[in-house]
Amino acid sequence: MSRTIFVTTALPYANGSFHIGHIMEYIQADIWVRSMRMSGHTVHFVGADDAHGAPIMLKAESEGITPQALVARYASERPQYLNGFHIKFDHWHSTDTPENVELSQDIYRRLKAAGFIETRTIEQFYDPVKGMFLPDRYIKGECPRCHAKDQYGDSCEVCSAVYAPTELINPYSTLTKATPVLKSSEHFFFKLSDPRCVEFLQSWTTGTNRSGSKRLQAEVLAKTREWLGTGDADGEANLADWDISRDEPYFGIPIPDAPGKYFYVWLDAPVGYLASLKAYCNKEGLDFDALLDPQGDTEQFHFIGKDIVYFHALFWPAMLQFSNLKTPDGLHVHGFITVSGEKMSKSRGTGISPLRYLEIGMNPEWLRYYIAAKLNSHVEDLDFNPDDFIARVNSDLIGKYVNIASRAANFISKHFDGKLAYLGDTQALAQELAQVADKVRQDFENREYGRAIRQIMAHADAINQAFDAAQPWIMAKGIGAASEDQKAALQDVCSRALAGFKALSVMLAPVLPVLTNRVAQDLFGADAGFQWPDAAALPERIAPFKHLMQRVEPKMLDDLFEPPAEPVPTPGGEALAETIDIKDFAKVDLRIARIVDCQEVDGSDKLLRLTLDVGEGRHRQVFSGIKSAYSPADLKDKLTVLVANLAPRKMRFGVSEGMVLAASHNDEKVDAGLYILEPWPGAQPGMRIN
Ligand code: MSP
Ligand code: ZN
Repeated sequence: MSRTIFVTTALPYANGSFHIGHIMEYIQADIWVRSMRMSGHTVHFVGADDAHGAPIMLKAESEGITPQALVARYASERPQYLNGFHIKFDHWHSTDTPENVELSQDIYRRLKAAGFIETRTIEQFYDPVKGMFLPDRYIKGECPRCHAKDQYGDSCEVCSAVYAPTELINPYSTLTKATPVLKSSEHFFFKLSDPRCVEFLQSWTTGTNRSGSKRLQAEVLAKTREWLGTGDADGEANLADWDISRDEPYFGIPIPDAPGKYFYVWLDAPVGYLASLKAYCNKEGLDFDALLDPQGDTEQFHFIGKDIVYFHALFWPAMLQFSNLKTPDGLHVHGFITVSGEKMSKSRGTGISPLRYLEIGMNPEWLRYYIAAKLNSHVEDLDFNPDDFIARVNSDLIGKYVNIASRAANFISKHFDGKLAYLGDTQALAQELAQVADKVRQDFENREYGRAIRQIMAHADAINQAFDAAQPWIMAKGIGAASEDQKAALQDVCSRALAGFKALSVMLAPVLPVLTNRVAQDLFGADAGFQWPDAAALPERIAPFKHLMQRVEPKMLDDLFEPPAEPVPTPGGEALAETIDIKDFAKVDLRIARIVDCQEVDGSDKLLRLTLDVGEGRHRQVFSGIKSAYSPADLKDKLTVLVANLAPRKMRFGVSEGMVLAASHNDEKVDAGLYILEPWPGAQPGMRIN
């Protein structure tokens, strides 16, 4: 039975370029869509930019452009990535569009009419200089628990405490450094706590969809049970109502009949799925309302990452349900891609840039294959490992699959004029191929791509073994003078290998659409790409074999990883320490100190005892190993630089409360002298050095 399926991927924030995590998600979805289409199903596959919200507004402002211009800039580079990796959305849209305004406002009106919207006055931090309410991530201050400085408004990176921004000690706005003030304002809430909503979500999350499969993966369901409180002793839902409004200035969609109020970006973002579908329907003359009809048979699936489950498993189905639209048939949640076991980080140079991948001439289908080989239906992270990548592409994809064609096709072209012929039972061969292909097809449908690839490679192994065991290169020796039986035997061996190769190509078609299209059309003379049933249709002719795919050169992987910052020449010959950022530097509190007294230390031929004034209303004692270069009289009353927040250290002669800075050759054996730092005139004790 042919199905109609609406498929989306998460809408990327429009304030940055695609990274490898986005590409991974799109490849996963694209493989699924292609496989479903090969079964004859109709799939509408759409994406869009997630354009609204405070970060985009503020970034645009800092660049002196409109948010629309910022969004347009990123939108314009999307096609290079999508086309480059053969990701074939039917349509790509934006949430900042008339379709989305209309749909979001319409859904809101329906929710309001059904009694799910409530207003409440709440107090929030407001930046009086900037004139706007501050999202948590724009507020910093001292952690109320461990007193670490400069922690974000919602949690402490040092002690992991979670708190409200109002609990921060000495809070400040990261936008203006102003102290935020509490200000009250009316907010709109979606009543997730409404019993109708709780009841609906309990049944939606645990239930099955129209084709009888579970809507949520087991680990996702477990999460929603936690949120819904169904696992608690009291069985009470813990759902808090959802704040869906933001005050101006905000880049978003106005809330109807509420001047100065906008929808929070996470309200209109998923509606963007529908807006994109709608724009697509308008373009193609499809019936949008029929597709969204809750009673209709269109299935709806969302591919998303593990970090945005809350929005998709709770808010989104509830919004749809209570505005009388179709609710999703399933969420397809994936884990995160890491690179060589590390989270992606551009600054550390481990990130893989998708564009760089293409620019250095790496084949996009290698990445599609590699990602497919490592994906399964669970919410598991996936590691991009360069050696593993080379091995899988060169040994498996090229070594096992591509090579079958190059080895078998040449005999057929040379000795049989491209004609294939089989000895004995072709029924059994066709059946075997149909069975393998069917298992693989099901694995793709269930998003067990890794298992699909393993089965494909196991079958490729079997084909290669049968081919090698028959030793066709020996059969081909003196074939001109051989008997008809001998010729037929060689033709059979090669034909079976090529029938197998064709079936493998069908199975790999969702993953390698370009390569397998060439196989279908150039080698087997088909007029279009493969469909699933083609796997068991034994080929009768081939065209001369043309080279199919290059191997990965290990050097490409070196080029792929963004080069670390240019090494800086080092005058003293000593290698520079690891790069730090300004935050690391800010941890070191350097102060101007006046040397009020300086004494030799009894029993030490290295140390001098300094008494320092750092503008603290008291004096500090610091021991310094500079006796070889200075006598006490040289230093008395001079200014110097002190590391003022170094932990005090107990020494044989007393406690040292800091460290004065001095330059020397890095090799202790080279006596190039020792030079204490002295500021230019005018510096005062206690001044901070930045
Ligand atoms: N704009 C929201 C989604 C709105 S959907 C109505 C958003 N955008 S995002 O750009 O941050 O993320 C887009 C998708 O990329 C999400 O599904 C996210 O999980 C996924 N990924 C982000 N980093 C990832 C990896 N490192 N690996 C795999 N996917 C990751 O969230
Ligand atoms: Zn803390």
